Parts: sequence; C-alpha cells; structure tokens
Amino acid sequence: MDSSRPGARIAAIGTYVPDRVITNDDLARMVDTTDEWIIRRTGIRERHAAAPSEFTSDLCAAAARDLLSRHPVDPTAIDFVIACTSTPDYAFPSVACLVQDKLGLPNAGAFDLNATCAGFVYGLHTANALVTAGIHRRVLVVAGETLTKVCDWTDRTTCVLFGDGAGAAIVEASPTSAFRATLVGSYGAGAANLYRTGLSNCLGDGNGPGLIHQNGREVYRWAVETVVGGVNKLLDQSGLTPSTLDWFVPHSANARIIEAVGERIGVAPERTLSSIEWHGNTSAATIPLALAPALKDGRIKPGQTVLMYGFGGGLVHAGAVVNW
Ligand code: ACO
Repeated sequence: MDSSRPGARIAAIGTYVPDRVITNDDLARMVDTTDEWIIRRTGIRERHAAAPSEFTSDLCAAAARDLLSRHPVDPTAIDFVIACTSTPDYAFPSVACLVQDKLGLPNAGAFDLNATCAGFVYGLHTANALVTAGIHRRVLVVAGETLTKVCDWTDRTTCVLFGDGAGAAIVEASPTSAFRATLVGSYGAGAANLYRTGLSNCLGDGNGPGLIHQNGREVYRWAVETVVGGVNKLLDQSGLTPSTLDWFVPHSANARIIEAVGERIGVAPERTLSSIEWHGNTSAATIPLALAPALKDGRIKPGQTVLMYGFGGGLVHAGAVVNW
C-alpha cells in the first residue's frame, strides 16, 4: 500500500428487518407448495415483509440507525451515502438521497448502486476505493430491499424465495487497510435468466410489469461456478488458504448453492455464515444480515479474516476479503 494514502476499514454494521413474518405455511396457502419443499430445496423457513407504507429507504435508514446506536458518528462527518438496492422507492430520487435526509447528513454526497444481490459487496468495493483514494473519509453503505413488493405472488418458483431487509456499514479511513482484496465481475449475456421488467421488454415479458422473472436452474449453475472461481482468486490475492480463512459469507440465495460452493472451495459449514433460514433471499441485504448476529455474539473476533461474496441479477458478482 502507498503509505501516503489512507487505508480503509469497516467500522460497524447495522441491520433492520420489518415486523411482519411470512412462513412457508403461509405461502402454501397462496401457491401450490409445501414447507417441506421450500426447506429441502432452499433452506428457507421464514422471511420478513415490509408494511404497505414501508419502503427500501425506510429499511435502510432503520439499519443505519441501528448501526449509529452502537457506533455513534457525528452526522456531519459522514461524507457519502451509497444505497445498494434493486427495489428503490422511486426511479428517482435515489434511495441514498432519501436516507441522507432521514438521517440528517448535511455533508454527504449520495447515489444508488444497482448490483442486485452483489450490491453490498459492490458498495464496499466502491467505498473502499473512495476512502483509500483520499477522496472521502467516511462512507455510509446501506443495502436494502423490499422484494416482497415486486414478487409475482402467483409464481411458486420465485415468490417463496424472497424477503425484505436491510444492512448498513460505515467504511472509514484508518492507518492500515483492512481490505485485503476485492473483486468485481459481470456477465450481461446471462441477463435474461434473472430480471425485473422495466421500460423495455427486450429480455422478455417476464411475469408482468415490474416483477421478478428468474430461470432458477441457469442462475444456480452460473452462481456455483462463478463464486467458486472468484473465491479461489480472492484467496490467492489475499495470501489466504481455505484453512486460514476464518469466515466465508456468501450471498444467501439458496442453502444448496452455499453448500455446493463450500464443498468445492473447502470451507466447512461451521465457518460459513448465512441469513437464508430466517430471512430468505433479501438480495443486497443478505450479507450484512448474516454478519450481524455473528458480530453480536462474538463469533467474529477482531482481526479475523472474512470473505464475502455476492452474486445475482445482471448477471453480476463481487467479493471482498477483509480483516475484521
Ligand atoms: N414448490 C413446489 N414445487 C416447486 C416450487 C415450489 N415453490 N418451485 C418449483 N417447483 C417445482 C418445479 O415446477 C419443478 O417441477 P417439475 O420437475 O415438475 O417441472 C420442480 O419443482 C423442480 O424445479 P427446479 O426449478 O429444477 O428446482 P430447483 O431445485 O432448481 O430449485 C430454485 C429452484 C430454488 C429457484 C433454485 O434453482 C435456485 O435457488 N436458483 C438460484 C437462485 C439465485 O441464486 N438467484 C440469484 C439471486 S436473486 C437476485 O439477484 C434478485
């Protein structure tokens, strides 16, 4: 590292999930599915759903307030907000601007970053770049989704998967860099396998206006191969091996993808963190939702190495290795 430039570290994490819970049995009353199928094929038991009057900016602001309650920061000292989401309240204004206002951050730039389920890691990658370039000192990264508002509730192949939630992280300047390696990638040729309809219908008509459409099997295949390749690259770049890595935190899309990747990279389930069981796939929010309980109960200890890896619609993927 150039010693004239600052390093960057993740100073704190916060999370929020809405109160309302949807169980697998609730879904079995809506579509032709069962609790047993959902658990066996996805690992999901429950997911939370935002209230009709609750949107992504509300979830993100609540996650940031949770963070600030345990790690107080002068609001004037936060100089950038990156909101990672594919379910913004509006096409514009950005969720980041709404969060900037809700939190009262007078000196912050603000923009949204849409990297679907890789959003949180893309956000960390961008915040690390802004801080280590010496451009910003303290970046608030929020990652939140209200996917239950864009599910087709008649399509059993997608509506059982998704949930709502948010995470927040402060990335700030520090004397040494906690980011050991980051990696980003994309595969736009696979876009038609996972999209939310918008102005165009070039990828297909999907499941209706603004709703999620997914070819689950194709995404599954691509995800396992891509994440295994990316994790191996990151371990190499950061001088780690599967046995010296302390924690693996993949995007929680499906417990079977996590198991398949873990087996292939040689990281045991005991060193893998996931939020799939009680939150479902919350897209950009799954990684902070997996980190938070392990930070709270002391499983993740200061100085330990954590490898996060997100992947999703785009298709897009991103990984980061940090010293906690
Ligand atoms: N309940 C009961 N049966 C179901 C359900 C359900 N909810 N959903 C599908 N089935 C049926 C199918 O119709 C199919 O029946 P058939 O054999 O008679 O045709 C059978 O179960 C098997 O279907 P598959 O699609 O092969 O099931 P699979 O084991 O692949 O699981 C799943 C589907 C869970 C979607 C899986 O493919 C997956 O997790 N894919 C990856 C998702 C992902 O990673 N997305 C990226 C992030 S999301 C984002 O970016 C927003």
